[in-house]
Amino acid sequence: MKIRLRVNSRAVALLLAATVFLCGCISHAADRAELANVIKTIPPNGPFWKYGTLEMRRKTKKAGMSPVVFPHWSHRARYTCRVCHEELGISMRLGDTGISRSQYVAGKYCGACHDGVTAFTVQDGPARQCDKCHMKDTLALEKRFEAFAEGLPFARFGNGIDWAEALRSGAVRPQNALTVKKSIQQLPEKLASPMKLGTAAARSDVMFSHEEHFSELDCSACHPDIFNIKKKGTKAFTMENNIFGNYCGVCHMLVAFPMNDCKRCHSQMSGNAVP
Ligand code: HEC
Ligand code: HEC
Ligand code: HEC
Ligand code: HEC
Ligand code: HEC
Ligand code: HEC
Repeated sequence: MKIRLRVNSRAVALLLAATVFLCGCISHAADRAELANVIKTIPPNGPFWKYGTLEMRRKTKKAGMSPVVFPHWSHRARYTCRVCHEELGISMRLGDTGISRSQYVAGKYCGACHDGVTAFTVQDGPARQCDKCHMKDTLALEKRFEAFAEGLPFARFGNGIDWAEALRSGAVRPQNALTVKKSIQQLPEKLASPMKLGTAAARSDVMFSHEEHFSELDCSACHPDIFNIKKKGTKAFTMENNIFGNYCGVCHMLVAFPMNDCKRCHSQMSGNAVP
């Protein structure tokens, strides 16, 4: 009786250990496979100067002009996202705004700053500087990037610049408004602390900080178009959806640090990142 019990309990213990071991193995393997899938779908990081540098050629192509090259890095060091994407009404989708010469010459979009006072002018005349935007090649711009990036905090991906740290340390001090004296919006108290995002997925360790984003963006940049305002109301919050220009990927594949930098969102991930 006693012996049989001992055997049984040992068998049970063994079985239990095996089950735990196997389950651990399987979930670990599934996790790895999922990670591998995510990593496969993320494109490798290009040259640092090119990240967030847009080539605009919808209108110029027809007109036979060189395409316009718009570097985010140079502008975001001077202005927060909200200046262009809220105050000046520029869309966060390439080509969507439909910027034309007649509009910017009249002071809209690029013309709000490129007036010969704040920045080089868009106007025609003896001192015309068309080729500063309509670029035949980008060699001079690449050179300027190298000088620009020197001394700014380093990150492995995107522009090779840790913009969040640059903001915090005051290495860049972007202007928050251009012409309108907007009543400064306050971040509601209840959004001050970071919130945990999560799906049913095992790797649900992403924290989202409203405060960090509020320094660059107004509420309307994200609500209601990108995220439902109800917590966990955002459907299909998966990496696959993130990567292809939805949710976090609206900014975090194109201008803000890219998805390759897993650890900056998944703080518990052990440093795996895509080259
Ligand atoms: C501050 C940047 C900037 C400067 C400077 C500039 N442009 Fe443009 N230009 C643009 C942008 C942006 C577009 C739209 C690009 C697109 O979608 O193809 C554009 C488009 C054009 C087009 C296409 C037709 C149309 O109606 O939009 C022409 C022609 C043009 N520019 C001529 C000029 C000339 C001539 C000069 C110099 C006198 C000049 N641009 C200076 C930014 C600039
Ligand atoms: C000086 C103006 C300016 C500032 C500042 C600015 N942007 Fe943009 N952004 C633009 C323009 C212009 C476009 C192109 C819009 C178009 O083609 O209709 C654009 C496009 C984008 C796109 C789409 C890019 C693509 O490849 O499809 C994203 C995402 C974006 N901006 C995010 C940001 C974020 C995030 C910030 C702040 C860190 C920011 N922008 C700051 C002017 C600006
Ligand atoms: C909110 C103000 C603002 C807006 C809007 C803006 N720019 Fe600029 N831009 C600047 C300032 C300031 C500079 C730097 C001063 C200078 O070079 O005269 C600059 C510089 C540039 C440069 C040179 C980049 C470098 O660092 O070498 C390019 C190219 C340029 N802008 C293109 C554009 C185009 C194209 C648009 C519209 C799609 C645009 N900008 C809209 C303010 C603005
Ligand atoms: C800009 C932030 C951000 C970055 C960077 C990021 N993720 Fe995610 N990830 C999320 C969010 C948000 C979710 C969904 C919420 C959750 O499940 O916690 C998520 C979910 C996941 C999941 C759960 C399964 C799924 O698809 O929902 C996996 C696996 C994952 N991420 C892997 C990665 C890997 C690998 C990298 C780097 C190559 C990465 N993530 C980079 C924000 C990010
Ligand atoms: C960069 C994008 C972004 C900006 C900017 C932003 N939010 Fe959010 N907000 C989110 C995300 C992501 C969630 C979570 C959605 C989910 O879980 O489905 C969220 C959730 C919320 C919630 C629900 C919170 C809860 O605990 O239930 C409220 C309320 C909210 N946001 C209000 C605001 C207000 C007010 C502003 C401006 C001060 C703002 N948001 C700016 C992305 C943003
Ligand atoms: C509308 C644009 C936008 C959207 C959408 C957005 N972000 Fe961001 N986020 C930014 C910008 C701009 C920064 C500043 C840092 C940078 O540009 O790299 C930032 C910074 C962050 C940081 C701070 C990193 C640090 O080192 O301090 C985290 C974490 C982050 N975002 C996570 C997320 C997650 C998770 C989501 C989706 C739920 C998201 N973001 C959606 C624009 C955006």
